[in-house]
This record gives sequence, C-alpha cells and structure tokens, in this order.
Amino acid sequence: MFPGIPSWPFTPKPSNHTMQPLEQTDAPAPETATPYDRVPYKSFPFRQSHPERLATIAKLYGIESPSIASCRVLEIGCASGGNLLPMADRFRNSEFVGIDLSNAQISAGQKIAKEANLSNARLVHCDVRSIPSDLKDFDYIIAHGVFSWIPNDAQTALLETCGQLLTPLGIGYISYNTFPGWRMRGMIRDIMSYHTRKPGKPEDQVRKARALLNFLAESVPVDGNPYGMLLNTELEQLQDKEDYYLIHEHLEEVNEPIYFSEFAERIEKAGLQYLGEADFSVMAIENFSPSVASMLNNLSENIVEKEQYMDFVRNRMFRQTLVCRDSVSIDRGLSPARLRELHICSNTKPAEPIRSLSDNSPATFESGASVTKTTDPIVKAALAHLGTIWPNYISFGRLVAIARSLIAEQASIVDTTGSSSEADRLGKSLLRCYATGHVELSIEPAQYSPTPPEQPRATDLARTMAGQIGFVTNLRHETVNLSDIEKRLLLKLDGTITVEHLVTEVCELMDQGLLIAHQNGEPVTDADICRAIADEVVRDSLSKFSKMALLIES
Ligand SMILES: C[S@@+](CC[C@H](N)C(=O)[O-])C[C@H]1O[C@@H](n2cnc3c(N)ncnc32)[C@H](O)[C@@H]1O
Repeated sequence: MFPGIPSWPFTPKPSNHTMQPLEQTDAPAPETATPYDRVPYKSFPFRQSHPERLATIAKLYGIESPSIASCRVLEIGCASGGNLLPMADRFRNSEFVGIDLSNAQISAGQKIAKEANLSNARLVHCDVRSIPSDLKDFDYIIAHGVFSWIPNDAQTALLETCGQLLTPLGIGYISYNTFPGWRMRGMIRDIMSYHTRKPGKPEDQVRKARALLNFLAESVPVDGNPYGMLLNTELEQLQDKEDYYLIHEHLEEVNEPIYFSEFAERIEKAGLQYLGEADFSVMAIENFSPSVASMLNNLSENIVEKEQYMDFVRNRMFRQTLVCRDSVSIDRGLSPARLRELHICSNTKPAEPIRSLSDNSPATFESGASVTKTTDPIVKAALAHLGTIWPNYISFGRLVAIARSLIAEQASIVDTTGSSSEADRLGKSLLRCYATGHVELSIEPAQYSPTPPEQPRATDLARTMAGQIGFVTNLRHETVNLSDIEKRLLLKLDGTITVEHLVTEVCELMDQGLLIAHQNGEPVTDADICRAIADEVVRDSLSKFSKMALLIES
C-alpha cells in the first residue's frame, strides 16, 4: 500500500460526527425520497470490484472473459458513482451504466460525470426490480454493499439481473453480509434498532444510538466477561465510522445477512454459479494450518461446502463473491502457464540484505503482513526486482527475463517465449504469493508514470474530484487524500503545463496572498526564498503523485 493511502475497505476518520450530504437542501424531501436521498452514502472506489480484478481471477480459472478495454459494465446501487466513474475514466472505449434508487445520488454523480467529460458513463435513476429493457448485455455486473440492504424481492431481482443480463462469459461481483460473523454484529444492530424504534430525524437517531453504545461500553464489565469483550470489540469498530455509515448499516430497516451455502442456492436459481472471491487469498485453503486445511478438505465434497466450512472457522461476516453463468466451464487447477498473459506487481522488500541472488542462500521478503521465504534464485531475483519497480506492473515474460539476467549478474539475452523449469518454478511461487497477498496480478494494469514527466497529466476525473470532493481516486482505483495545496496542483495537471510553469503559478498565488510560504515557522516574503520553497513544494508533490499512481504515463 502507498504511504498515506489507506487500504480498503476505507471509511475516512470523521473529524466530528456530522452529516455530510452530497447536496444539502432546505427543501423538504419528496414523498418518494429514499433514505439514501435524505442521507446520501459517501461514494468511494472499491478496487476489489473492478472489472480488472474480475477478469484476472476469471483468467486464472481458465475463463476468457471479455476484454476490459472494450466492454460493458453495469453497477447496481452505484450511489453517486464513486466506484463506477473512475473505471469509465480509465477505459474510455468501454461503456459503464450505473443504476440506483436514490435520485439525489444519481444526480450528484451525473454532474461529476459531465464535468469530467465521461460520455461513456450513464447513471440511471431506477429500481433493480424494474431495469429499463434497453439496459442489457453486460460483460461485468457489480453490486457492492447492496444485496444485504435491500428487501428479499429486490435481492432476487438483483440475482436475476446478473443471470439474464450477463454476456455468456461475463462475470458478476456481489458483496453481502454473512453468517455466522453477523450473528455478533447483528446483536449491536438489534440494540440500536430497539433504542431508535420511535421515528425521528436521522441525525437525532444516530446521536441517540451513539449515546446508548457509549453507555453500554461504560456499564458492561470487560474483564473475564465474554459479552463485555464482544461489545467492546464491536464498539471500537464503530467508533471511526461516520454517521451516514452507521445510519445505513445499523439503523435501516433491512439488513439481511445470509449463510454462504444459502447464497449459493439462490444464485443457482438465477442460472449462475460460484466462481470465487474477489479477495483471492481468502480462498486459499493452504493459508490455514495443515491440520485445519486437511480437516476442511475432508469435510467438504464440493467448493460450496468447503467455502461454507471456511466461514465457520473464520466466523466470517462479509463476502465479495464472483459469479458467472452456470454454463461456463471453470478450471480450478491453477496453472502457472496462465500467468503468461498476466502482469505482476508487489510492494515487497527484503527483510534483510540479500546475501546472493545466484546461489541457494535463504532470503526473506515482506509485503504488508505477508512474508515469503525462499532459497530459489529465480524467485529471489523476481521479488527483488518487483520491489524496485513498485507501484508499476511487469509482464510475466519480462519478469522472467530480468530475473534471469539479475542472477547471471551480467547482460544476457533471454528467450521468454518457450517454457522452462525456471519460469515454471517462478510461476508456481508467484501463484502462491498471490494466494498469500504478497503479489498482485492484473490482466490489464493501468500505466502510471513512475517519475513525474516534464508536463505531468492527471486524469480528467481526478482533476474534477480534486476541485469538488474531499478525496481523489488514483489509477489503482484507490482513495487518496490530498492536502489543499496538493489539490490545487493536481487541478492544473492537464498535460499542457510544465513544472517551471507550475512553480510560477504557485509564486503568483503567494503574491496575491492566497498562499503564504513559511520557513522555520515564520512567514517568508523574500521573492527568491518564496520561489525556492514553491519549487520544492511542487517537485515534492509531483513525486508524491507519481508514487500514488495519480500521473498518467505519457
Ligand atoms: C449501502 S449503499 C451502497 C452504495 C455503494 N454501492 C457503496 O458500496 O458505496 C446501497 C445503495 O443501494 C441503493 N439501492 C437500494 N435499494 C435499491 C433498489 N431497489 N434498486 C437500486 N438501488 C437500490 C441505495 O440507494 C444505495 O445507494
């Protein structure tokens, strides 16, 4: 993960617990207004739902799903398009349709799409139970954070939409709350629902709910008391959540968790089958201890049973499931050969200096919480190289070639087309690393500039967001928070302006008194020192933008 970029699922820390509707209005809400019109959901990107991820996992399972560069994507319950619009911004030759029951959210999203010139994105105000008949033939269908929060008939309509509107090799993504984990969280929800059972304004309800939770946290002893410990864990988890989240997650009428096995039955009725999880690492049974893995294998006769038993072991409360048509043939035997069409990246670092790349001395690599130990020269060399090019991706063939030349410690020419035992070994290790979350794979990675070009360019949408919203979505489909001055700079990056020119603009803002330079805590007025500070700030910000995958490779 980049410094300063939170990992998903990301809900920014609230500065205080106030409502932050997208468009505040004094006018009374119309009779047809939904709870999301009254208190809109903050709309963020969800990397795990991106067609790039869905197509990558499909490829690993032997499914040739449609190219993302020219496909059709539907998002159900898209809110104001925080997830869908950055996809449309990146893939201008693909078509993106978002539907949502909340008119206020759809209107807010339409405004942003227009300002970012996203003519390939269409946001439609409608109910999933009555989707207009001209919306059909989608290669990817996404429904994040919707299934559990809509009534049963709307859930069925959502699944039927996937069953009927997905193209033959299309992939669907549906996230939902699961049992047994939600049994515990549901207890908090029941307590809050009881306490707020009398109708009231959302802001009053949420204040009441928080007050009761605080009262319970103070009143229920924790030491040696399982109920107190459980309550405390859940309360801690809610502390950082904003009001809009609390309202929709815990105070709404509908929130229906489901056991995975029941979900699997329901998708089957809609003509769909289980493909896997968007978070590949949670599917890998090898991530359990050998005895647990063996027990899970013995207990299960098929993939659905295995996944269900895994949920029991993990006390799972949320799933991000990929589905496809029941006619599609899935090959779950992961083959290193499939890596040949994929690209790899990793924020991996050696835990200590590597003794040698060319012999069998052991080396340990760390990437976030994942640790990989290896003695294999080709794996050591590949991981070492991946760490140096992060956040950029490299194709498997090129990685094999570079790793071989690193081992040879001299320039060499490598044929990357044929198979070799080295490439096979590296492929197997990288698949294992993917299953532990040590590396990322992508079928169609974004190209971002590793260093700031002389005329840097951010996407149209990133610039629109920098001007209007508190955060920006980067080319990795992640949320990035920027300071005010960084937002000002990003707004300017349309690919026509040079770094020198940017420095001059910052100086002009200083001259106008809109920006004030400081040195050692004191305001600076000397023009030369101001220019030197402006130069440093601009260059530092641009290199931060590069590392944050905000600059397009020219
Ligand atoms: C919990 S929010 C999730 C929003 C967004 N997908 C996300 O995860 O940030 C649920 C969304 O589903 C929409 N929704 C609820 N019922 C719906 C229905 N019957 N048809 C279409 N959208 C619906 C709501 O308006 C809301 O925007």
